[in-house]
Amino acid sequence: MEAPGRIWFGYIAAVGIAVIGLITLDPLAFGLAVAVLVATVLGEWYRGRQIALAAAAQDADLPELVSRWARGWAYARGFPRPATLPGGVRVEVGQPGRQVEWVATDDADTLAGLVDTARATPEAWLSVVAESPEGVRPWFVEAGLVTDDGEEALMSIDLADQASRELPEGYRAEVERDGGVITVTVRSGEAAAADGTIAVIGTDAVADRIRTDPDHRRRGLGGAVMTLLVAAAREAGAGHGLLVASAMGEPLYADLGWRAEARLVTARSPAPHTSVESQHG
Ligand SMILES: CC(C)(COP(=O)(O)OP(=O)(O)OC[C@H]1O[C@@H](n2cnc3c(N)ncnc32)[C@H](O)[C@@H]1OP(=O)(O)O)[C@@H](O)C(=O)NCCC(=O)NCCS
Repeated sequence: MEAPGRIWFGYIAAVGIAVIGLITLDPLAFGLAVAVLVATVLGEWYRGRQIALAAAAQDADLPELVSRWARGWAYARGFPRPATLPGGVRVEVGQPGRQVEWVATDDADTLAGLVDTARATPEAWLSVVAESPEGVRPWFVEAGLVTDDGEEALMSIDLADQASRELPEGYRAEVERDGGVITVTVRSGEAAAADGTIAVIGTDAVADRIRTDPDHRRRGLGGAVMTLLVAAAREAGAGHGLLVASAMGEPLYADLGWRAEARLVTARSPAPHTSVESQHG
């Protein structure tokens, strides 16, 4: 976490202009010196506040991280804002086979109720964030929920700490903003070779749907997309990053400096579903 240092340039400029005012006895110069001084102090206050907010975000506990991730994830995908429940959140996904999804921690007091509710709800998913997924799977099996061995990772980072990756030669990138949702598309000619999204809510930025076309993988495009997304999110005021990584994505994010906070395992109410490479990222 960077320290909120002084904006020395502002103070030096204010003193310099004031000295010019003294020499020339020009009241305009004195006025300008005061304006530069006020702007510098305000700038320092704003930067300190942003850094303090990012630090508070970094210290959050797991239930809070889950709810903040779910809020950004829902925003990135255009779902309604998740409802907060004891133990987690409820997201109206509205997709075939996944009408509703609960994302919760493995708190035993609340998980039992959520497992029962998910089993009784058609086309429902239940994702549980836990330090050890092995403790969660028996709950799913006992309730007759459908699950597999796969798991994802809830990851976070202070965005200032993410490593930078250059866009490899032969590709160009487009950055688009729609409200707080930023999308990066990397093209090879006219074809999209890689893309990704990041949703900014306050000081949080939630990365989502980072994808590279199979023909363009392992050339650095995923890292370049993350670099461009994080730069745009920081420009929009975000300081803290969250995402849920697939098994394929996790090594890439770890290499960029992201930290795994917990594992995420998913179960579905008994219904046909299609297997996908990535469920939340
Ligand atoms: C995960 C995914 C986005 C990575 O995209 P990518 O463009 O291959 O990413 P990069 O090339 O930047 O990095 C991938 C790996 O290639 C390596 N790499 C990067 N440039 C390379 C190069 N020039 N030569 C060889 N390897 C290279 C990276 O070090 C990284 O290695 P690691 O996985 O061991 O850490 C891609 O595999 C994908 O779309 N998967 C399916 C969807 C998915 O799961 N997305 C993640 C959702 S959270």
